[in-house]
Amino acid sequence: MIDQPPPELIARALANDERVLEAKKLLRSALKEHQKKITAIKPPVDALKKGYEELLSSLTEERGNKLWLPYIGSGIGNGPFVELADGSIKYDFICGIGVHYWGHNHPDLLDSGVDAAISNTVMQGNFQQNIDSAQLSSLFLKISRLDHCFLCSSGALANENAFKIAFQKNFPANRILSFERCFMGRTLAGAQITDKPGFRDGLPMTLSVDYIPFYDTKDPEGSTKRSVEALKKHIQRYPKQHALMCFELVQGEAGFYAGTREFFIALMSILKENKIAVFADEIQSFGRTSQPFAYQHFDLQSYIDIATVGKLAQTCATLFTSEYNPRPALLGHTFTSSTSAIKAGIVILSKLLNGDFYGPNGKIMRLNRHFTSKLEGLANRYPHLIQGPFGLGAMIGFTPYGGDEEKVKAFIHRLFHAGVISFMAGGGVHPARVRLLMPVEVVAEKEIDHVVEIIEAVLKSD
Ligand SMILES: Cc1ncc(COP(=O)(O)O)c(C=O)c1O
Repeated sequence: MIDQPPPELIARALANDERVLEAKKLLRSALKEHQKKITAIKPPVDALKKGYEELLSSLTEERGNKLWLPYIGSGIGNGPFVELADGSIKYDFICGIGVHYWGHNHPDLLDSGVDAAISNTVMQGNFQQNIDSAQLSSLFLKISRLDHCFLCSSGALANENAFKIAFQKNFPANRILSFERCFMGRTLAGAQITDKPGFRDGLPMTLSVDYIPFYDTKDPEGSTKRSVEALKKHIQRYPKQHALMCFELVQGEAGFYAGTREFFIALMSILKENKIAVFADEIQSFGRTSQPFAYQHFDLQSYIDIATVGKLAQTCATLFTSEYNPRPALLGHTFTSSTSAIKAGIVILSKLLNGDFYGPNGKIMRLNRHFTSKLEGLANRYPHLIQGPFGLGAMIGFTPYGGDEEKVKAFIHRLFHAGVISFMAGGGVHPARVRLLMPVEVVAEKEIDHVVEIIEAVLKSD
C-alpha cells in the first residue's frame, strides 16, 4: 500500500506545505476550544425551541414524511456528544445507524478533511480515481483477506454489485437464498430480499427469493436442524437455480440476532457443495465484533466468496475472491465516493488495524461486557419492563415493554428527550427492540454508565 504520495509529486508538496500544516493546527485548536463547551447533555435552549419546531416542520414538508426522530444537528459535537440545532446536547448512541464510530468532530477526521479540501476534486469516480482510492482498496483487502475490492458510496449499491457478481458467475442460476428477518438495503433487489413487507410495499417482484429460518438461541440444535432442512428442500426444489445465499451474520435491522459458527458452517458447507456463492453482508457488522469482520469472529473466512462493507468505513465496498471476479463491463458508476469520505475511511481502517480494538480483550469486547452487564442488571431488577441485552460486540439491543412496537417507539422518543439518541429494530410480526451502535473510538465506561442510568429512569417513567 502507498502511505503517502511519492516525494516527486506536487500533491505531496502541497500536503506537506507548512501553511497547510499550520492551518490544521489552528483548526484543531479552534475546534478544541469550542468542544470544551460540549462535555455533558443539556436540554434545548428556550430561545431556539420555536425555530427548531419550524425547521422540523419545513423539513417534514420538503421530505414529504416526518423524520423518525426530531434530530437536526447543528454541525458540532464532541466524541459521544452531539449538539442539535435547538441547542440541546445529547449522547449519540446510534451514530447515524452505525456511521460515526469515531464520534463527533474527531480531530483525526478534521485533518483528513483538510487533506480532502485541498485535494483536486470533491468526488472521485470509478473512471478517474486518486491515489487514496487505491490506498483504501488495499486496506479493505488486507483486512478482509479477499482478493478484489470495488468501492462505491452506499451499502445498498455495494450489495447490488454483490448480487450481480454472483448472478454472472453462476449463470443461469437466478434465485437467491436469504434468512428470514434479513435486511439487504433499499434498491429494488435489496428491498425485495429484505424480509419486511413495508420495505417492498408497492414494488414489482423481480427476483425469486427463498427464505431460511435464522438461528434460535433458545433451541440451538433444533433450529440448526430446521434451517439445514429448509435449505436442502429449497435446493432440491430448484436444482442448480440458486446463485447465492445472503448472510447477515448478526442481523441488525431485525434487532441484533447473532448465529454461531456451528450454525453457519452447517449451512455454508451445503452451499459450497452446491456451488452457491456465500455472500456476507457486513455493512452493519463490519468493525464491531471481536475481529474486523464478523466472518472472522465466527472463523468462517474460508467459506466467504463475496462480502460488503459500509457505514463506519465511510466508503462502501464489495469484496470478492478471484473466482468471483466479474467480466469487466459488469460493475461501474460515476462516484467511487467523496474524497473526504475516502480519506476518512483510510484513517479509520488504519487505526482499527493498528489499535487496541480487536481480540477477546480488545476495546470492543471490553465495552460490550461493561454495557451488557449494566443492562443485565436492569433486566434483573425490572424483568416486567425490559428483556435482553442482545447482540454482539458494539451492536447492543434490548427489548422494553415486551417488544410492543408502539410502546418501544414512544420509549425511544422519551429517551431522546432525556438526552440519549437510539433507534428501533425489529417490529412488525417480531418484537420491537431498542438498537444501540455506540461510538467505540471515543466512548468511555462512565458515559455508558450514565446512559444506562438514563435508560432506567425513562423505563420507570412510563
Ligand atoms: C445489513 C445491511 N445491509 C445493507 C444496508 C444498506 O446500506 P445503506 O443504507 O448504506 O445503503 C444496511 C444499512 O443499514 C445494513 O444494515
